[in-house]
Amino acid sequence: MSTWLIKGVAPYGGDPVDLLVADGVIAEGSAAGAQVLDAAGLVALPGLVDLHTHLREPGREDAETVQTGSRAAALGGYTAVHAMANTDPVADTAGVVEQVWRLGREAGLVDVRPVGAVTVGLRGERLAELGAMADSAARVRVFSDDGMAVHDPQLMRRALEYVKAFGGVVAQHAEEPRLTEGAQMNEGVVAARLGLTGWPAAAEEAMIARDVLLAAHVGSRLHVCHVSTAGSVDILRWAKAKGTRVTAEVTPHHLLLTDDLAATYDPVYKVNPPLRTAQDVAALRAGLADGTIDAIATDHAPHALEDKETEWGAARPGMLGLETALSVAVLAMRETGLLDWRGLAERMSAAPARIGGLPAPGLVVGAPASLTLVDPAARWTPDPAASASRSRNTPYAGRELPARVVATFLRGEPTVLDGKATR
Ligand code: DOR
Repeated sequence: MSTWLIKGVAPYGGDPVDLLVADGVIAEGSAAGAQVLDAAGLVALPGLVDLHTHLREPGREDAETVQTGSRAAALGGYTAVHAMANTDPVADTAGVVEQVWRLGREAGLVDVRPVGAVTVGLRGERLAELGAMADSAARVRVFSDDGMAVHDPQLMRRALEYVKAFGGVVAQHAEEPRLTEGAQMNEGVVAARLGLTGWPAAAEEAMIARDVLLAAHVGSRLHVCHVSTAGSVDILRWAKAKGTRVTAEVTPHHLLLTDDLAATYDPVYKVNPPLRTAQDVAALRAGLADGTIDAIATDHAPHALEDKETEWGAARPGMLGLETALSVAVLAMRETGLLDWRGLAERMSAAPARIGGLPAPGLVVGAPASLTLVDPAARWTPDPAASASRSRNTPYAGRELPARVVATFLRGEPTVLDGKATR
């Protein structure tokens, strides 16, 4: 195990200190023999934790693998990601979640935490083997049919009841499917002008309202994926005020981009839930700042060229997110004065770790040295061709972003140094 002295780094943007990393933890004592990393001007944050990553393995290794997605995650400052279950085969058995977990260990760049499907084959007909996945080597705690909603209220109720036994959580992709049939983008004035079928805000809000009532009724934990509308924030605020055990995430793209980008007809902007209006973006930012929304989650959704570089109607929804999430969060939340570094760390590391059932990350002596070093003064322009992801569908190509990850450590070992992955 290597020993590192990270010199002159500012934890959470505060006063600079020297951080000693030894035996995989943040240590005290002698730095003799340590490799020195000059971190003057850099900010240290606990390693970021993503609640919502599509790694596409098994099944679509042409779009992403556990290895390439892990590298993209480390480059984005992440030390743990939750790998969504909509793979092929679906991660609905102990066998598949263990396979993904093992591939993550072999890649060794981030902790890959498989998400288990709620229903067999994501078909929404009967519950998957939730207990077997929880008891497996992968120790699954988050269950989601993401990409699809668990539509049947009785099944949703049963899933919420079931996960209570092992402290799990059901992460719902909130979309009332009858209201989004044929939908291509947000329902509103832009969709009307473009003549595209709209995805109404109510399709998301109706499902969240139902689910917070179910979660309150059975006293279980609900997590809401990729919240995208102002009305959803209102419902979550109401549910939390009543004491319902609900948490929620918002993606970087929903904090920054709006539905008028659909007018370009560039499918890179096609995503589910769709980009919404400026009023929704403002409400999401306010909800994230006041704690109504707990976490930022990437919904990193790599797609092969042939699935994305086609006409808008035929293109798959989804955007890359891992390598740009922190920069977009800084742009949307820090440069607007809504959150400081500590606030960002809470929403990109501590809260997602809590929701996912991982130990609390921290920059204190004795804590695992899983951390990221960020250059807050850097500005950079994402180049899809340079992405570590196997896919190219970033909406930020050619767009200047603030702040850049310089180094990432996973339990004391560097996974990124000088902005480059170490493996
Ligand atoms: O845009 C999306 N892409 N939203 C989802 O819910 C699923 C995801 C995917 O798997 O590509």
